[in-house]
Amino acid sequence: MAEDSAPPAGAAPDWTISQDWASYSSEEHAVWDRLFTRQSRMLPNRVVPAFMEGLDVLRMSKSGIPDFDELNERLFRATGWQVVAVPGLVPDAIFFEHLANRRFVAGRFIRTPDQFDYLQEPDIFHDVFGHVPLLVHPVFADYMQAYGMGGLRAAKLGMIEALARLYWYTVEFGLIRDGGDIKLYGAGIISSYGESLFALDDPSPNRIGFDLERVMRTRYRIDDYQQSYFVIDSFDDLLRQTRDADLGPIYERLRGMDTIAEDAVLPTDGLLHAGTQAYAAARASG
Ligand SMILES: [Fe+2]
Repeated sequence: MAEDSAPPAGAAPDWTISQDWASYSSEEHAVWDRLFTRQSRMLPNRVVPAFMEGLDVLRMSKSGIPDFDELNERLFRATGWQVVAVPGLVPDAIFFEHLANRRFVAGRFIRTPDQFDYLQEPDIFHDVFGHVPLLVHPVFADYMQAYGMGGLRAAKLGMIEALARLYWYTVEFGLIRDGGDIKLYGAGIISSYGESLFALDDPSPNRIGFDLERVMRTRYRIDDYQQSYFVIDSFDDLLRQTRDADLGPIYERLRGMDTIAEDAVLPTDGLLHAGTQAYAAARASG
């Protein structure tokens, strides 16, 4: 998230801009279509079923970059959420304020063909394909709003970092139980072909049952696949553990505690899979 609080030229005070859908080139629409086809073929048995339902409700299989006006009509009808375009990363307070009001901020640009598998700043494919389908799910939709409201409170208490880790390990890189299986729901995974395979199948990362305080203390990778993933039981359970928890005393405890390394396994963890960390070790040794 950006630190500067003044919106860039051309953006509204709340940092939103027009999506200007008509200005996308046919090459840009084609990049979306290629990414969409690859992910939507691979995901069905890997992703939480609510994600596929969201794609369907929002008619996202329609060719080309989605037009936010069309998308918002269906999304708003489903859960009262909307997608708004922003020029890039926005300050924390702006981000939380939008979420608290059921607005999801999305970049309007799309990656170029040579950035097909990796780019640092979230583009419209990550933001819209990765995040928006689950906003159709009523409980997940409530969680996202609760997160925004929690963010506004955490900012006042100086606890943004702890809350950012919660976002990272749920909204971006979360796994969820589905019957006897583990499935994907985090947008950072869902929008990445490589990580959609790695997060579920690779023996390298830890897979650990979700625990709010544990997650809020755990550092994360921004440069590569995660070394630990946290598995929630259900969206209901996630909402219960976060919105309904009294975070004040939790924050007080966290202030006196060290952070936890990305790859650590603690004796108190509900460990589902002890990662070999072979992938991270191989990357570190170059
Ligand atoms: Fe994201």
